[in-house]
Amino acid sequence: MKAGTVNHDAFDGWPSREDRYVSTIPRFQVILGGMRIPVLTFLVCGLSLVSSSAQEGVIESGVIESAGGRVAKRRLVLPQPPYSYATTDLPIHVRQVAKFYDNTPASNQITDAGATLGRVLFYDRSLSANGSVSCSSCHSQSTGFSDERRFSTGFEGKEVKRNSMSLVNLRFYKSGRFFWDERANSLEDQVLMPIEDPVEMGHSLVMLVKQLQKDAIYPPLFREAFGTPEVTEQRLARALAQFIRSMVSVRSRYDVGRSAVDSVHDPFPNFSEQENYGKQQFFGRARCSECHLPDRVTLDGPVGQSAFFQLTTPLVNGIDSDLKDVDGGVGLVSGRSEDWGRFKATSLRNIELSAPYMHDGRFRTLDQVIEHYNWSVKPHRNLDPRLQDFAANGLALPEVEKVALAEFLKTLTDSTFINDPKFSDPFVHEE
Ligand code: HEC
Ligand code: HEC
Repeated sequence: MKAGTVNHDAFDGWPSREDRYVSTIPRFQVILGGMRIPVLTFLVCGLSLVSSSAQEGVIESGVIESAGGRVAKRRLVLPQPPYSYATTDLPIHVRQVAKFYDNTPASNQITDAGATLGRVLFYDRSLSANGSVSCSSCHSQSTGFSDERRFSTGFEGKEVKRNSMSLVNLRFYKSGRFFWDERANSLEDQVLMPIEDPVEMGHSLVMLVKQLQKDAIYPPLFREAFGTPEVTEQRLARALAQFIRSMVSVRSRYDVGRSAVDSVHDPFPNFSEQENYGKQQFFGRARCSECHLPDRVTLDGPVGQSAFFQLTTPLVNGIDSDLKDVDGGVGLVSGRSEDWGRFKATSLRNIELSAPYMHDGRFRTLDQVIEHYNWSVKPHRNLDPRLQDFAANGLALPEVEKVALAEFLKTLTDSTFINDPKFSDPFVHEE
């Protein structure tokens, strides 16, 4: 695959010395080798085409304006043709049920160009008010797109109130609601919220749209994605949502094992004895699967699935007692007593990498999580009935079973996903 490089120089303050310098040379240089479609795009946008000795498929552009006139110096590397996002090869156990869980709206199907634009936006620090943080600052690929810090820090160094959530298979969260308290009604709504959040990115969407319109790299990418170079809030949301929906993780050792047997309850040939024993705990005595791998509800009754390790709806898992001064989760949003203390949980896929755990990141390790279910489930008016018995008597898993369960959870790690270049940072950071 040929690589295209967008060289993204920028300046601090407007007008600046660099700006005067830039104005004496062609403002944007596009160096293209073998790139047919973007040539037209870049020409239309007033960029000059320079055939040079540069490596094939290199695009170089000049200046961008960011909020308050600040800009960081950047280079952007994009492959040409783009990576494939629109089609994902799913193993059978995932393919069989994917359509029942998919929250992709008909109005925003994933395209390669749309998700490519989303990828650039996701990693672009100019989406924050002072150019210091991007989405990826709190959602890093190596941690399953979550944050190893208990509380991420936003554009001015202030801490957010809850633990960052891993971003994996969000496309397959059927209700299509997002955040720990599910306050976002759709992914398209959600992706714009961090940009205007006063702690996270502190920008204004009205200003950001104008800023991106003037930015050398964006009009061509918007044209590729949506047919015309106009930057709008809705297009911004659609592109980011497309990129996030394309983050599908189905290549873990669990998936390899599951693909080799008829039933998820059979021993997996690629698992150690301990991992198979841990799987047995997950589905059996420890009852984790009842919430974290829920049956699919159909007209004919519940049908098992072995693809999506996600709750169907927010629940109370007894990490807090029923007190006023603790985070009320969904209850704070809905104002209803029966929602108090309920939280969404992230997918268990890549859970080994996305520590710390729970909405406030209180547990550092999977052992601590299991110990919670083992002995520390607290009574709560909304405690899920499946955990009532644990609250009264404990789960009381012996050491061997606890260790095996943790080993099973680690088989959900998908190193292909974590290392996939199509989800990686397209910017080359020079400093
Ligand atoms: C300063 C850190 C920070 C930045 C920057 C940030 N996020 Fe987040 N993100 C979080 C935190 C913390 C949560 C959970 C917040 C909550 O539920 O109240 C979250 C939650 C999410 C969720 C919900 C996941 C789910 O399963 O419900 C999505 C999607 C998301 N972020 C995408 C983005 C995108 C897209 C951007 C950039 C436009 C972004 N985030 C920028 C910290 C951040
Ligand atoms: C009654 C349903 C239920 C059962 C049973 C259950 N969980 Fe959970 N789990 C939840 C909820 C709800 C959360 C999110 C709670 C929060 O953050 O406030 C959660 C969170 C987690 C998390 C942290 C996710 C993250 O991204 O931080 C892990 C790991 C986890 N559970 C593992 C397990 C294991 C292992 C078992 C079996 C021993 C289990 N769960 C049993 C409902 C359940």
